[in-house]
Amino acid sequence: MRLFTGIQPSGDLHIGNYFGSIEPMVAAQNEHDVFAFIANYHAMTTVSDGARLAELTMQAATDFLSLGIDPQRSTFWVQSDVKEVLELYWVLSGFTPMGLLERAHSYKDKTAKGIAANHSLFSYPVLMAADILLFGSEVVPVGKDQIQHVEIARDIAIRFNNEYGDIFVLPEYRVDDNVKTVPGTDGQKMSKSYGNTINIFGERKAQEKTVKKIVTEVVAMEAPKEWATCNVYNIARLFLDEAGQAALQQRYVQGGEGHGHFKLYLNELIWDFYTPYRERRDYYSAHQDEVREILAMGAAKAREAAMPIIEKVRLVSGIAY
Ligand code: ADP
Ligand code: TRP
Repeated sequence: MRLFTGIQPSGDLHIGNYFGSIEPMVAAQNEHDVFAFIANYHAMTTVSDGARLAELTMQAATDFLSLGIDPQRSTFWVQSDVKEVLELYWVLSGFTPMGLLERAHSYKDKTAKGIAANHSLFSYPVLMAADILLFGSEVVPVGKDQIQHVEIARDIAIRFNNEYGDIFVLPEYRVDDNVKTVPGTDGQKMSKSYGNTINIFGERKAQEKTVKKIVTEVVAMEAPKEWATCNVYNIARLFLDEAGQAALQQRYVQGGEGHGHFKLYLNELIWDFYTPYRERRDYYSAHQDEVREILAMGAAKAREAAMPIIEKVRLVSGIAY
């Protein structure tokens, strides 16, 4: 089955991104035909500094390759390297009623926050529909915030198919309930917008400082401690197998150690876990040409998958004459 996903290049990745989205995507490569791309056109709706966008795009490519996206098994590319998506975006615009876009939550939320509304923000779901439909994606794994976008894509596909026959596969969203929500240093959901993140590829000192900031209860050193509600434990468990979790629980229950000790332990856990990935990232950072070659290969694979569909679209819609 083809699993399709777009990732906005939005800067430093945190461990919430890792366990919530990157690890499941990497694991899916064993069973599925993973199509993953860096949504740089979408990022233009929020990043208006060209040099910054180019930098973010290369950073995202470098990070995802380092964290296990396998460009041999999967198809991994940058959205703007397959321009057919913009062609389809225009074609689909003609099948997108204004009301459908006016009802989109993400547009309503962003304008409510005072972000100046421009056309790219408004038509964002049409571009996303083009991404999904161009590759004949059956299943689109998403977070809850993206469900409506997949529904809009499906709606547009139905309208097009009604006019021209069965051209598009009707996509379905899938929300994976098993994906854990990673808590941040303050116990809320870890998110860039809350400033409570622990970065995957931070400097050692910076990571140590962040881990020290994790909010914990105040209890005497000798006293037994609660592990189930402890933010340090709830982050640490992500990096531990069952035996490791049991051993850490034991340290909480028996008393004699303070939260400072558990933080030191967590800091080591995170650092050690990402060490092999960091080494790979150091390599790719020093070999950006290699990253560019991988992306070019990915774009060629992606275009090959897109051609049969865009050719049909050109034919039925009369663009091919
Ligand atoms: P942020 O909230 O930091 O801006 P994004 O919205 O860019 O993160 O998220 C990118 C991906 O990472 C999404 O698939 C999202 O579901 C996942 N993700 C982000 N934060 C978490 C978290 N705390 N727990 C689980 N998954 C997360
Ligand atoms: N809008 C998605 C997000 O912000 C990114 C995205 C763009 C996407 N195109 C896509 C996701 C197609 C899935 C399929 O996370």
